[in-house]
Amino acid sequence: MLTPALSLRHVSEFAADVRAGLTKPGQRELPSKYLYDEVGSALFEAICVLPEYGLTRADTRLLKKYAEEIVGRLPSPLHVAELGSGSGKKTRWILEALSRRQMTYYYPIEISPHALAACEKELGRIDLVSMVGYEQPYLEGLRSVAEGRGEDDHLLVLFLGSTIGNFDRDAGEEFLRELRESLRIADALLLGTDLEKSVDLQLLAYDDPAGVTAAFNLNLLARINRELGANFDLSCFRHEARWNYADRRIEMHLRSTRRQTVRIPAASLRVILDEEETIWTESSHKYKAEEIPGMAARTGFRCDAQWIDEEWPFAQNLLIAE
Ligand code: AVJ
Repeated sequence: MLTPALSLRHVSEFAADVRAGLTKPGQRELPSKYLYDEVGSALFEAICVLPEYGLTRADTRLLKKYAEEIVGRLPSPLHVAELGSGSGKKTRWILEALSRRQMTYYYPIEISPHALAACEKELGRIDLVSMVGYEQPYLEGLRSVAEGRGEDDHLLVLFLGSTIGNFDRDAGEEFLRELRESLRIADALLLGTDLEKSVDLQLLAYDDPAGVTAAFNLNLLARINRELGANFDLSCFRHEARWNYADRRIEMHLRSTRRQTVRIPAASLRVILDEEETIWTESSHKYKAEEIPGMAARTGFRCDAQWIDEEWPFAQNLLIAE
């Protein structure tokens, strides 16, 4: 069933991406950005409050504790753009710190209209903060924001929550390089990165006993059923989280528990999955704090400062455009 909010362009892009991923020779895959429909975004919010998933709390703790200090290192006047604002909850601390010094413009950039609406509700009423949301892919949205500002305006780009970890390492650096092209010298990027910790803790964070992450992962198949008319039987798939030692990342997969045929009409596709075959749905790369300055230097930035959470190893990295 198609809801009216889904434009034809969205549906055909989704169908094309699903087709490309599921017909890939070797390992089949689905792009992780499609995990966040309305149900997926709600499940992700639930993940963020799981005791096993310390990432979001660490991210928020650091922003709350160091917002003044972060803002104090940045030039004026300053506009704030956020890539993937999600619900916007943790951004409040930065916006409040900035608004104590100046009138602040805040531009959340989100492909999920549901997340954007939640963000507008959460942050739309802070004194001296004016918000304009962009429902666009990250770099397109950022280009629009950057082009629209005045001669003297600087930009702070927020890329929080270790979303960069969804990119392969090379692609992540390429993304930072492209992001840098929208910036002026002395503009800033606040980059949140989840740090490596024990494999047991990392696996538990992506395979919680209550099964919330499993539901988040399986919902991707349910979404394909809803939006592309497919007939995935969710009871024949199992959520799996793996630690990939070579690439230092968690991978989420959906494992087919038997040989099965799936039809996806809107993608003109019929897929035969073997018993035990997996569909790879997400990577979450983990970092060492020491590797961030090198990443910054290779992509047109200087790593000006890092703040690290002790309870759940996670780093906020302040990168300045050079
Ligand atoms: C929002 C992409 C950072 O990779 O940790 C949470 C998404 N996936 N549990 C992450 C996610 C499974 C999350 N990011």
